[in-house]
Amino acid sequence: MGIQITPSLLNADFAHLADEAARIPTADWLHMDVMDNHFVPNLTLGAPVIEALSRAASQRIDAHLMIADPDRWAPAFVEAGAGSVTFHVEAAAAPVRLAREVRSLGARASMALKPATPIDPYEDLLPELDMVLVMTVEPGFGGQKFLDLCLPKIRRTRELLDRTGGDIWLQVDGGVSTETIERCAEAGADTFVAGSAVFGADDPGAMVETLRQLAAGARGLDV
Ligand code: DX5
Ligand code: ZN
Repeated sequence: MGIQITPSLLNADFAHLADEAARIPTADWLHMDVMDNHFVPNLTLGAPVIEALSRAASQRIDAHLMIADPDRWAPAFVEAGAGSVTFHVEAAAAPVRLAREVRSLGARASMALKPATPIDPYEDLLPELDMVLVMTVEPGFGGQKFLDLCLPKIRRTRELLDRTGGDIWLQVDGGVSTETIERCAEAGADTFVAGSAVFGADDPGAMVETLRQLAAGARGLDV
């Protein structure tokens, strides 16, 4: 898999989500941050908004569930039209069962790790997944500073994914910008969430392509 840019709409204009999506036509996916005020101290949106946006936007939706009890709720996001559903392993009661259920409903299954959660205990689960998300901030808010302390885990996750084989994507999320994306790509990430960097730019569509070029250069790939 090449480089994928998956902008977060958390810092976009929530009153005009479809218009905001149209400003980033080359984005590979729309990253939608679902927060429940339990797993993280913030509250955003749920499946009805995903369902409306999946009908209105041309890009596929990458739902990042920062919620308690994803075992109960994740299937509703597949049914709402998300093409990829990410649950946090810290919140999942039965991550293997959950990943299998998401896949059986027809979406990509992805597992996220907060900064203090190591990847090694989950090595045996990797074949059940289509993507691993390594958070590079504490989840809950956009606009936070990138945590360099997560870089060794990105590297380690890349090693384990290469050992597992298949085509499992490695996504990073939090503080990703023109300043930090190359570090993530060099460490092994191939899929990049960027919220404030994209929607804080004068031209969000151009910023998507700038980020893509920087990441591709750092991974030694053609764009
Ligand atoms: C944070 C969210 C991120 C966030 C990224 O908990 O998961 O997706 O919107 O925003 P930036 O790129 O501004 O850190
Ligand atoms: Zn996110």
